[in-house]
Amino acid sequence: MANIITIYYSLKGQTIAPGMKIVNLEKGHTAVAAEFIRKAIGGDLFEIKTVKTYIEDHMKMIFEAKEELEKGIRPELKDYPNLDGYDTVFLGFPNWWNTLPMPVVSFLEHYDWHRKRIIPFVTSGGSGFGKSIEDMKTICAGAEISESGGEFLGHQFETSQEEISAWAKAALE
Ligand SMILES: Cc1cc2nc3c(=O)[nH]c(=O)nc-3n(C[C@H](O)[C@H](O)[C@H](O)COP(=O)(O)O)c2cc1C
Repeated sequence: MANIITIYYSLKGQTIAPGMKIVNLEKGHTAVAAEFIRKAIGGDLFEIKTVKTYIEDHMKMIFEAKEELEKGIRPELKDYPNLDGYDTVFLGFPNWWNTLPMPVVSFLEHYDWHRKRIIPFVTSGGSGFGKSIEDMKTICAGAEISESGGEFLGHQFETSQEEISAWAKAALE
């Protein structure tokens, strides 16, 4: 049996719902998906958290994130779990500007990924992974990155716990 940890980054607070409506989330989309996965397959759960707080106003925040991406800024993180005892990492994040959020880049660059299996999952407004897997492959040299990552629509997954659980179980096989 694999030693599994589900690691995710997710932003609570303002987000865009279908119809370009701004809504306030108590828990981010990816956080909910991560909890479904953990429930389905067991193991540990870890949330990537930045030291900084992103601007609350969503329409401003998305440009704050764009600037980070364009300038290659690595936001400082609150902590890094010891991954020595794990061989399988479910790694979840929202699609930001068609790739990984920079806090996830900060996280991934911290570790040696040799002999680890990464099973990625993403929530998005529709672009799925975008080029995040390509970028992950560059950062996580040596990792075995699963080809059967999970792409979930942010606003839909509250009704798709079953789909997410089934995907997680299948991805482990
Ligand atoms: C800074 C930023 C950039 C985004 N860029 C994209 C994008 O390029 N394509 C897309 O489909 N969704 C994009 N989204 C929407 C998010 O991927 C989607 O709402 C996701 O489910 C948010 O997850 P979270 O609630 O866990 O943070 C973006 C959201 C943010 C905040």
